[in-house]
Amino acid sequence: MTAFQGIKVCIFDAYGTLLDLSAMIERFRPDLGDKAEAFFKAWRSKQLEISWLFNPSIRKADFWLVTREALDETMTAFDLYDTRLLARMMDAWLSPNLYAEVPVVLARLRSAGFKTAILSNGTRKMLTAGISAAGMDSLLDAVLSVEEVGAFKPKPAVYKLAADHFAVAPQSVCFVSGNIWDIHGAVAFGFNVVWVNRGGAPPEKLPRDNAATTTTLAELPALLGA
Ligand code: LAC
Repeated sequence: MTAFQGIKVCIFDAYGTLLDLSAMIERFRPDLGDKAEAFFKAWRSKQLEISWLFNPSIRKADFWLVTREALDETMTAFDLYDTRLLARMMDAWLSPNLYAEVPVVLARLRSAGFKTAILSNGTRKMLTAGISAAGMDSLLDAVLSVEEVGAFKPKPAVYKLAADHFAVAPQSVCFVSGNIWDIHGAVAFGFNVVWVNRGGAPPEKLPRDNAATTTTLAELPALLGA
């Protein structure tokens, strides 16, 4: 008996779930010193804020441009504007670090018969480069970018893209994310969800039957009976 029954597909968020954004802080600590944590927190918050306020009638859903715009604003806010550093920081999104447990977990899920995919706000270019740099190509059945639907998560059309891609009902999907707002969007769409609460944030009210919280992805195979 496992907590989740009838799951066929595991869909993963990318940044902060499979790809370790906090590793970027260490990468740029020599440039940012003791401002590194605050800088990256502000950059990520601004990036998400811009994506949540996104209006498709005004602009294209391009997460690369959103990330760049957020970086511009963060550099200005921190009085750290430097075009070379800006270019290096943007490039870091193309060669992210993986969380250590990811390869083993994905391989185990696939060998137990689950389909695995990424569903991310990232552009196709960002995701293709990142997945290849992280050596994850052979561990995923699909890499789905919101570019296909022209909207960002947590818009329902984005979660629908994943269900439609695998031609399954939302109840057959386990959606996994380290981002709580993404988890709420996936719950609203009807997916089963696993919130990877790596940072030990306070508990959130999630539906009891089809939601779980873990501290890393290592707990996922047992939850799914893999
Ligand atoms: C993703 C970001 C937003 O969709 O975490 O991968």
